[in-house]
Amino acid sequence: MDDRQRYDRATAQLDPPFAVLDLAALRSNASGMTRRAGGKPIRVASKSIRSRPVLERILAMDGFAGIMAFTLPEALWLASTGLRDILVAYPTADRAALTALAADTRAAQEITVMVDRAEHLDFIESAVADVRDRHEIRICLDIDAGYVTLGGRFRAGARRSPIREPDQAADLAADVAKRPGFRLVGLMAYEAQIAGVGDNPPGNTALTRAIRLMQARSRRELTIRRGRIVQAVTQIADLEFVNGGGTGSIEKTTREKAVTEVAAGSGFFHPRLFDFYRNFTGRPAALFALPRSRRR
Ligand SMILES: Cc1ncc(COP(=O)(O)O)c(C=O)c1O
Repeated sequence: MDDRQRYDRATAQLDPPFAVLDLAALRSNASGMTRRAGGKPIRVASKSIRSRPVLERILAMDGFAGIMAFTLPEALWLASTGLRDILVAYPTADRAALTALAADTRAAQEITVMVDRAEHLDFIESAVADVRDRHEIRICLDIDAGYVTLGGRFRAGARRSPIREPDQAADLAADVAKRPGFRLVGLMAYEAQIAGVGDNPPGNTALTRAIRLMQARSRRELTIRRGRIVQAVTQIADLEFVNGGGTGSIEKTTREKAVTEVAAGSGFFHPRLFDFYRNFTGRPAALFALPRSRRR
């Protein structure tokens, strides 16, 4: 029986709209991801899952550890349900959530927030200033992993952070270290231009060649720079993790010695984007059905 027949049979009693999650496909995608990670743990990006039971299923499988969350309120909620080791991958300016984090023993133990400049540390300090007996806040530094060349005229990747060079990372790490109430525990450098850009797009060969060239150069540059950044920051703080990558770069990112873990989210459901990568294949695992009431 093919997938379409299985889905039709399983949903025969349902009126659309509805969604289908193919757990066999999800499990097969997940084990493909752990094979590619070569023994390093995969942190699960909740933004691309949006379902706590699905997150819990994934985290129960071998090879997955920790969550990469989207917002601090989401992380607080996940921690309150017993989930552990939650990295909020995007800087937060939510003062109420920061107050709740600093006031809650368990949340403060399990959640790490993202910072990319000293002013953000000032902001967090002022947000939690009135919390009595506040807990130490776990900090991760966001590092720009984009590819820049031609004297800055060409840039690929997300503009996530002003921190790009080892000395900048070391300065910010030293700033965290000297402030009471903060503990630097991690670094994150997400190479969107490799992880999120398929290297085998249909048709256009010039574009394909350009993507592959950009990605090869970016990898070479980032492997060296990320290694130097980790070396510089570990002089200042004992890091628990160095995070990088996404679904599209798992085997490449985990090969770097300086990286301790990779993050991945969308690969579990395997949307169409991932049909255009050379290194891996997967099965669509999340589908939806809509009613159709007219026929042309
Ligand atoms: C910083 C960061 N790392 C990793 C990921 C995971 O990427 P993907 O969903 O392509 O696996 C994302 C996106 O969710 C992200 O924002």
